[in-house]
Amino acid sequence: EETPMELGGEQGRWEEERLKTASLSFGAKREREQGMRQEQDRYQLILEEDEMIDFVSTAITMKGTRAEKEQEAPALSQAEQNKQSMQEVRRSLPIFPYREDLLAAIQEHQILVIEGETGSGKTTQIPQYLLENGYTEGGMKIGCTQPRRVAAMSVASRVAQEMSVKLGNEVGYSIRFEDCTSERTVLKYMTDGMLLREFLTEPDLASYSVIIIDEAHERTLHTDILFGLIKDIARFRPDLKVLVASATLDTERFSCFFDEAPVFRIPGRRFPVDIFYTKAPEADYLEACVVSVLQIHVTQAPGDCLVFLTGQEEIEACCEMLQERCRRLGSKIAELLVLPIYANLPSDMQAKIFNPTPPGARKVVVATNIAETSLTIDGIIYVIDPGFCKQKSYNARTGMESLIVTPCSRASANQRAGRAGRVAAGKCFRLYTAWAFKHEMEETTSLGEANTDIQLMDHICLAGINDLIHFDFMDPPPHETLVLALEQLYALGALNHLGELTKLGRRMAELPVDPMLSKMILASEQYKCSEEVLTIAAMLSVNNSIFYRPKDKVVHADNARMNFVVPGGDHLVLLNVYTQWLESGYSTQWCYENFIQFRSMRRARDVRDQLEGLMDRIEVEVVSSQGDSLPIRKAVTAGYFYHTARLSKGGYKTVKHQQTVYVHPNSSLFEEQPRWLIYHELVFTTKEFMRQVIEIDSGWLLEVAPHYYKSKELEDSSSKKMPRKQGKTKEELG
Ligand code: CDP
Ligand code: MG
Repeated sequence: EETPMELGGEQGRWEEERLKTASLSFGAKREREQGMRQEQDRYQLILEEDEMIDFVSTAITMKGTRAEKEQEAPALSQAEQNKQSMQEVRRSLPIFPYREDLLAAIQEHQILVIEGETGSGKTTQIPQYLLENGYTEGGMKIGCTQPRRVAAMSVASRVAQEMSVKLGNEVGYSIRFEDCTSERTVLKYMTDGMLLREFLTEPDLASYSVIIIDEAHERTLHTDILFGLIKDIARFRPDLKVLVASATLDTERFSCFFDEAPVFRIPGRRFPVDIFYTKAPEADYLEACVVSVLQIHVTQAPGDCLVFLTGQEEIEACCEMLQERCRRLGSKIAELLVLPIYANLPSDMQAKIFNPTPPGARKVVVATNIAETSLTIDGIIYVIDPGFCKQKSYNARTGMESLIVTPCSRASANQRAGRAGRVAAGKCFRLYTAWAFKHEMEETTSLGEANTDIQLMDHICLAGINDLIHFDFMDPPPHETLVLALEQLYALGALNHLGELTKLGRRMAELPVDPMLSKMILASEQYKCSEEVLTIAAMLSVNNSIFYRPKDKVVHADNARMNFVVPGGDHLVLLNVYTQWLESGYSTQWCYENFIQFRSMRRARDVRDQLEGLMDRIEVEVVSSQGDSLPIRKAVTAGYFYHTARLSKGGYKTVKHQQTVYVHPNSSLFEEQPRWLIYHELVFTTKEFMRQVIEIDSGWLLEVAPHYYKSKELEDSSSKKMPRKQGKTKEELG
């Protein structure tokens, strides 16, 4: 019989998520057999013709623009670029010839929409042009928002480099849990969530002369809210310049929302890209990616390669597979540098993708769709596009959040292909059929999903937007979502019955975390366990990547993981991991020996330090419960009482929505199945799983949320213990 640990770990999760994908993979038969991942001499794949990915060129060439006509102006090679000074590189960007026109347009219009191909220089150059033109005189700041943390950091560091200043001085960035700015900072890159937080302390953004909402086409709920707020501020601050920058998508809609603001178009510079499709659908796109990379590496002319995958786990797996096969091929092939890029990757690792490729070698960057428009990597000639992206969707009615891998849109696919044609004519290999592209992909990505995230909505509401219902959204979220969001804040005690922020609500808003987490931290004051709860909050924030489970050491890794189990639930296991790490002196070696991801731990420590630093401001004393887990579990309950599930036949039922859910096989409570649970999050992979669960006593619910729960709801339907659930079948777990 399989134990949960054998099924769990990084690999287990990944398998589940991929199963979900397989069923969506453009109608492809699920050919993957259990044994398929077993190692064999894979490198033969690149040598044996019949096992190669069969691409067809459908003779579709993405039209290049300007550059195609100006073939005489060849792309700068990496080496040449390095020789040139930064200033020359700046002058070579497509935006440069339009510098004066652009500045004049900004001078003339308060709100301007700027459209330009990715890599044309919008993000790095426009703020500098403004600075060079006096927009920061009198200590005023230029703010530029990015939907992604990675982009904010990497772009700020690039601009600091171009201006020869130290990052954090004149140029800085601000992202959740990390503020790299100072008194001197005048160019500030930040995530849109951080700008939203600034509204709390500065509702008119008085210290800014210009706000640039960049990557506007990404359309997160944050950006949507920013649009509404900025539109409002611009009315009573005629001196504030607003720039909405976007790739060549959707710009008419922005213009329309901002009362017909003019659109400034930066003509692109792009080389033609040949597009190849597979003849038949690929059942295993990860495998297909790996094979395609090697195929390109062996058969194609020099030039770097960019692979689009959907998330961290997939990317890590792909990099591992690539490295493994390169190791085996040894000197038979030229050097292949395999570099991952995704949101949680530490910044030193992120920076590596921008390093020039050494002569004779080839670089392959394995990225999430962050590389679609947010990041520009020079030297990419080949793009591999499996055609998927991960979408977070939230069902307001059931409170179910799912991360679903879905086919990306045609617009996305074309953006991805475009990445191959920046420095020279390129090739894009699509791991799907031309038919699928035409008939199975949506034209553009829908925005609906992002707008139904209640946690986010709450977060925003706490950021001081009182009248959410009448807010000027570009695409209003469903009314039901808004009502649920407000109801949830009311239940948490953050809003009063008039919908106004309470004292508790204001304190909750001080913390840069979701409202429930915020409430949990504030409750720890009452239960005298803030020390422990801060740690748990930090560990929960680093997102499921604590335990390391390499394929070749599965048994050791699972044993190591088992050693951390303590009674009560996963939150306490996380606390235990952190505490032991702390006792080891935050040792790297300790992490290594215990199959713990050092990077995740380092991040948890950073987050914890940040949160602890904020405790003063919200007047919470940091005290320990001295080993007593009861107060800790009560504090968790006080924040997450919305997430209660009760054992019922065949699984659990959420108390509020009567939704059937299951304990995740990775959980320390998978076997135990206690009667009452609080879960941190619900994820839908093969089933509705609860991730990070903790055992509670139903009586606590009345204690922490008397206005929300009626004692009748919490009566146990039977006094007998439920029959223990049978171990899960293979089918259920993948
Ligand atoms: O915002 P947009 O996509 O229009 O372009 P950008 O991000 O300003 O990038 C302009 C150029 O800056 C790119 O072609 C890259 O060569 C360079 N860049 C870089 O080297 N490192 C970064 N982190 C960002 C940009
Ligand atoms: Mg940009």
